[in-house]
Amino acid sequence: MASIEVDLSSLVEGMSLTVKWRGRPVFIRNRTQQEIEAAKATALDDLKDPLARNANLAADQAATDLARSAGEGKENWIVMIGVCTHLGCVPLGQAGDFGGWFCPCHGSHYDTAGRVRKGPAPENLAIPPFEFISETVVRIG
Ligand code: FES
Repeated sequence: MASIEVDLSSLVEGMSLTVKWRGRPVFIRNRTQQEIEAAKATALDDLKDPLARNANLAADQAATDLARSAGEGKENWIVMIGVCTHLGCVPLGQAGDFGGWFCPCHGSHYDTAGRVRKGPAPENLAIPPFEFISETVVRIG
C-alpha cells in the first residue's frame, strides 16, 4: 500500500501527532530535551527488549536512543507504530512509570524512546520504514 507524507512543521517540541498508515496508528512525537536525555541515560542492560525494532536499521541493531529516533541530528523525532506489542491495544502517550507510553489493557509501560520497560509487552514499539524528505516532511512507508 502507498506511503504517506506528513507535514510536521506545526509540531513543536513536546507535541505529538497520530496518523494512520496501513490501517494502524503511527505515533510521531517531537520529544523534549528532557525526554531524550532520560532515554539516553538508560543503561541498555535495563531494557527488557534489547533490539531497536527499527525497520530502517539492521535487525540486530541495539535499542539505543539514537537507533530508536529518526537518527543523528533528528534525535528529537520518534516515529512508531502505536500498537502495543502485547495484544495490540493502542497505548496512551506521556503516561506510565517512564514518562513515555502506557498501555492500559494489561499495564505495559514504555519509555520516552518507546522501549518496553515493564509489563507483559515482549517488544519495543515497532518503528516503521520512514524518512524525512525535507526538514519538516516525513514519508512513512
Ligand atoms: Fe498492551 Fe496487553 S495489549 S499490555
